[in-house]
Amino acid sequence: MIPERTVTTRIDTERCIGCGLCVRVCPAGTLAMVGDKARVVGDQSLNCGHCAAACPVDAVRVGSLSAETIRFSSFSSDSRWLPPGQFDLAQLVRLMGSRRSCRNFKDKPVPLERLEDLVKIGISAPSGTNCQPWTFTLLPNRAAVMELMNAVAAFFARLNRQAARPWLRALMRLVGKPQLAAYYRDYYAVAEEKLADWRATGRDWLFHGAPAAVVIASRRASCPVEDCLLAAGQILLAAHAMGLGSCLIGFAVSALQNDRAAAARLGLAPDETVRAVIALGYPAETYQRVAERKLPLVRHFTLES
Ligand SMILES: Cc1cc2nc3c(=O)[nH]c(=O)nc-3n(C[C@H](O)[C@H](O)[C@H](O)COP(=O)(O)O)c2cc1C
Ligand code: SF4
Repeated sequence: MIPERTVTTRIDTERCIGCGLCVRVCPAGTLAMVGDKARVVGDQSLNCGHCAAACPVDAVRVGSLSAETIRFSSFSSDSRWLPPGQFDLAQLVRLMGSRRSCRNFKDKPVPLERLEDLVKIGISAPSGTNCQPWTFTLLPNRAAVMELMNAVAAFFARLNRQAARPWLRALMRLVGKPQLAAYYRDYYAVAEEKLADWRATGRDWLFHGAPAAVVIASRRASCPVEDCLLAAGQILLAAHAMGLGSCLIGFAVSALQNDRAAAARLGLAPDETVRAVIALGYPAETYQRVAERKLPLVRHFTLES
């Protein structure tokens, strides 16, 4: 793997017409005008690709970036940059408001190309220092989702057995780990009820019958949680545009963060930490209108000028 800040930018000086656009958008001082040509002058780079995206004569290449990431196999997309203000805002807002967490999936497989395209859409998200610390583990069929479901259920069954012991909760509190008592207070009863129902009826209360899922994990990074959740947000929206329902599964994240063996069984390396699990599939739900939200706290901070 190329170290994060390594400069991989190359300028084709034969092509360069000296407009300076690449220098202006470079956030890292990697490029500068030398005479009438752009040149690589810095010894560090964010590898953000702004320079290559800005160049009017295609004279810039950033070696660590791959054109494969903006080529989709289940639909075609226009890779020309859309200037601010040129997308239909009302349509975008409608899409955002229409995405719902799906709790009823159809028993219909999701084509693998769709899942692979969703990953490419996810990585269009911003990331802290552009380190793109995410990994994506695709669970492309119901059998794979059920394997994860079983691991999560086993994790919570174990946790419930521990949390049910008052002396253990007290002991953990004494050694400065009040989490077990908090879990007992907030989740024990509901987990017990869902586990019993699952054992009795086989009802999938966790993945809601989803035929596919994606696990997003991070490697070491400045803002790994934010990066992965931003990628997840792009995936949720795009899934809706594709005709897919989606649902973030927080219980699966907790289980995979705390049960290394379950994460390893999915193929995750020890340096990967799970940040999001998204259930995906064709939704068996319809709505009449978008949902309202609670009024948020919004404050205006103003200064007299
Ligand atoms: C971090 C996070 C974890 C979530 N975990 C679950 C979950 O385990 N199961 C579930 O059915 N929904 C889960 N959800 C979905 C929320 O309940 C849902 O987003 C919320 O009720 C608002 O509904 P909407 O997504 O349809 O707008 C989760 C959402 C987030 C953001
Ligand atoms: S944007 Fe392209 S043409 Fe303009 S200075 Fe940079 S490399 Fe040269």
